[in-house]
Amino acid sequence: MEEIISLKDIDYSYYGKIPALRNINLSINKGEMFSIIGLNGSGKSTLLNIINALIYPDSGEVLYHGNTITEKSMRDEVGMLLRRNMGYIFQNADIQLFCPTVFDELLFAPLQLNIPVDVAQERAEKTLSYLGISYLRERSVNMLSGGEKKKVAIGSVLTMNPDVLLVDEPLSSLDPKTQTFFIELLVELNHAGKTIIFTTHNLDLIEHLQPRVAVISDEHTITKIGSASEILENQEFLISVNLVHEHIHKHGKEEHRHFHSHYIFHKH
Ligand SMILES: Nc1ncnc2c1ncn2[C@@H]1O[C@H](COP(=O)(O)OP(=O)(O)OP(=O)(O)O)[C@@H](O)[C@H]1O
Ligand SMILES: [Mg+2]
Repeated sequence: MEEIISLKDIDYSYYGKIPALRNINLSINKGEMFSIIGLNGSGKSTLLNIINALIYPDSGEVLYHGNTITEKSMRDEVGMLLRRNMGYIFQNADIQLFCPTVFDELLFAPLQLNIPVDVAQERAEKTLSYLGISYLRERSVNMLSGGEKKKVAIGSVLTMNPDVLLVDEPLSSLDPKTQTFFIELLVELNHAGKTIIFTTHNLDLIEHLQPRVAVISDEHTITKIGSASEILENQEFLISVNLVHEHIHKHGKEEHRHFHSHYIFHKH
């Protein structure tokens, strides 16, 4: 197995005072489907930002294909490789889109990668049609709904065709039909050899995708790493990190108690 990303003893705090990650150690292999799960504020997005070198740790080391990532190395070949090969779909698509129109947004990455204009245009056109958003082609990115923005953000990463895909909360802002479409797309991309790293607090998604899982606690540290089934079968542990809680509801007059995950689709 070839290691693609490695994090060693990472600490990060915002403005030196709001702790976000503590003593993070992680190794992700090429072609893996890997998930980071934890509650709101546990540090999932911060961890993806570190992997994507948008921010740098206060201490510890980040390695990409065995090369140390620092502010300095991001300006040379290592940085070029990371920027070319790693796509990132943000939790909030608002901060991802910056081109005047949707079509420009989809063209941006391939043109940056020096792909000939006609090939880039064809790629962008196909992606619009694949995502069912051709009608948004000439629309300003400021004039879109939340879900449409998310689709454009997905499109802009698809036209980039990265080897590693970071997805922060894949399901957020998407309607159920698009959620299913996107999840199946992630499976397809993974089967095609892409490394997929996503965050979620949705245990149904973990059950469905069966990634390897790292759990971040409220203390911003990884408390467990294991296969999806190892994590899901450990109810006691999931309760201890608040990813599963006891739920009481009524069926007619009868009170019924059971454990369920923090998610809207919980099953009875
Ligand atoms: N820009 C920021 N400035 C200051 N503190 C921040 C900032 N972004 C996040 N934090 C803090 O860092 C910690 C980790 O936040 P992060 O966004 O990584 O959590 P998360 O696990 O992605 O949460 P969520 O599930 O809500 O997306 C939280 O305590 C949060 O309040
Ligand atoms: Mg987040």
